[in-house]
Amino acid sequence: MQYRRLGKAGLKISAFSLGSWVTFGKQVDISDAKTLLKTAYDAGINFFDNAEGYEAGESEKIMGDAIQGLGLARDTFAVSSKVFWGGDKQMQIGLSAKHVRDACDAALQRLKVDYLDLYYCHRPDVDTPIEETVRAMHNLIQQGKVMYWGTSEWSASQIVEAYGIAKANNLTPPTMEQPQYNLLHRDKVEGEFAPLYEKFGMGTTVWSPLASGILTGKYNEGIPDDSRLTLPGYEWLRDLWSNEDGIQKLEKVKQLTALANNIGISPTHLSLAWCLTNPNVSTVILGASRLSQLEDNLKAMDALEKLTPEVLEKIETIVDNKPAGPERFGQ
Ligand SMILES: NC(=O)c1ccc[n+]([C@@H]2O[C@H](COP(=O)([O-])OP(=O)(O)OC[C@H]3O[C@@H](n4cnc5c(N)ncnc54)[C@H](OP(=O)(O)O)[C@@H]3O)[C@@H](O)[C@H]2O)c1
Repeated sequence: MQYRRLGKAGLKISAFSLGSWVTFGKQVDISDAKTLLKTAYDAGINFFDNAEGYEAGESEKIMGDAIQGLGLARDTFAVSSKVFWGGDKQMQIGLSAKHVRDACDAALQRLKVDYLDLYYCHRPDVDTPIEETVRAMHNLIQQGKVMYWGTSEWSASQIVEAYGIAKANNLTPPTMEQPQYNLLHRDKVEGEFAPLYEKFGMGTTVWSPLASGILTGKYNEGIPDDSRLTLPGYEWLRDLWSNEDGIQKLEKVKQLTALANNIGISPTHLSLAWCLTNPNVSTVILGASRLSQLEDNLKAMDALEKLTPEVLEKIETIVDNKPAGPERFGQ
């Protein structure tokens, strides 16, 4: 396993980490969760990602029970939660100081830990002043309930505002952002956020490296049974891949599959290793609905050596989506 700093922070997390969205509490029960976490941990993974919104808290409960059951030493792993979608009631949603605090306490209980290593604002909340949220996060850090706080799918300008407020008021700034990043979705990580890495030392914990499984190539000939796009409740995701944009992207996946086969690796390994070639990525959060997938994905590290400059160039030609660069932001 490789380890990378979380931006400029001292924390070194594994280049691959494991998340539980869709899986824990829906496809994966406590027994399988234990197997997944143990396999990940034994392979050197030291960061597990979660959120209050995943299966209405059930995902955190399962992760907490599994970690406790495995007896993992608390000083050997990092665990996260995210605040935004805490329930149906008005006060259970968003980034108000009250919900940030209540959600943190609830996550600590479900995950059965005394502190969260990473705590994210799962989305921006336009109805709460950013200053209120920055102060709420700072207070949790002061109270010892959170080590590092960050954002997920915020815009660069919202992140810049949060840093500015923290600096002006001697509060703790965000450390990391959690954006989507994969071969079919690059704009924020490579374009909009480009100035933030050096300016603030921002880390990134990137999600959906396989675009929900599409980049494995298993959807090339249609939607397989027993896959994420067939799950009840995820019709919106299936729809994303059935419209014109989705169909065009699937064509690119077919070409990526052919390229991967040509160089003797799978499209899964090509896609995961490609994410690791970006030095601004602190960790790539893997998802797996079964053990065989996790075992397969962990081997992607070995595919890095196959991604020569020539292969990377061929990948660029296929995906044809390289963001324009830093000049797109902050002019
Ligand atoms: N901050 C955010 O807003 C946000 C959003 C989404 C995710 N996340 C985090 O990022 C993590 C990873 O995201 P993700 O689950 O979307 O990652 P992903 O790698 O894009 O998709 C994972 C899914 O693809 C399929 N898959 C994975 N490996 C496979 C393999 N080797 N062969 C065949 N199928 C395979 C499995 O689904 P099936 O078997 O069901 O097809 C698996 O659950 C989440 O768990 C969560 O922690 C964060």
